[in-house]
Amino acid sequence: MEVVICGSAGEMAELAADVVEAVLIGKPEAVLGLATGSSPLVLYDELVSRCLDARLSFGRAKAFALDEYIGLPPDHPERYRAVIEREIASRVDFAPGAVRCPDGNAVRVLQACVDYEADILSSGGVDLQILGIGTDGHLGFNEPGSSLASRTRVKTLTRQTRRDNARFFGGDVDTVPRHVITQGLATISQARHLLLLASGSAKAEAVHHLVEGAVSARWPAAVLQHHPHVTVLLDEAAASALQLAGYYRETYANKPTWQGL
Ligand code: F6R
Repeated sequence: MEVVICGSAGEMAELAADVVEAVLIGKPEAVLGLATGSSPLVLYDELVSRCLDARLSFGRAKAFALDEYIGLPPDHPERYRAVIEREIASRVDFAPGAVRCPDGNAVRVLQACVDYEADILSSGGVDLQILGIGTDGHLGFNEPGSSLASRTRVKTLTRQTRRDNARFFGGDVDTVPRHVITQGLATISQARHLLLLASGSAKAEAVHHLVEGAVSARWPAAVLQHHPHVTVLLDEAAASALQLAGYYRETYANKPTWQGL
């Protein structure tokens, strides 16, 4: 796992976009995994600007969203299908139908989860998964207690996550859905490269457990310690509880120039 402590949101966006760009240049038909929430927005803005500058194209790429709320009306602006469309898909040159989301209104929701797994598999698997982290250590919506071997399924959000996400629902925690479909921890871990972004002091404890804690279902994101290629981009506040922050800084500052993220 490589931890990079960034001096600014701009630096984080640039580094993250460099990773996406390298993947798309090396494999234009790459499969991307897209997160929602606030964390990836700086990256999405940077990708849009590179796409407008014709530096990169998503024209042959595919993408899968990490998760989706269950039961929001089809026209609700906070459905993750709508958020992904608004924040990235409609702003770059993905081909029609190239971006998939779990169906949070499926009549047969369990079958929808199985089908989503099968779609990811038949697309060849995710080359680069973009991730955020919850203040309670969730990855996707794999809340504490999630099986480290889990696959796409229905989960119940913790009160803490619903409180955190109430800002997208006019501050009213009671209107944040309780149930979601999320890729499982094993599903996420199958992506070839995982790129996690975290900002702000509210993430510091979860980031400490992700990078330096024991691997357990109590802090689900720690499962990434088992993955051979994880890049964690942090701002100073999100890095503030790391015990080995000095070492991560020294390592990155002395990284050989030929070695990308
Ligand atoms: C979103 C997702 C979540 C978020 C996490 C952090 O698709 O899967 O794990 O990444 O809740 O959210 P923000 O970035 O809004 O702090």
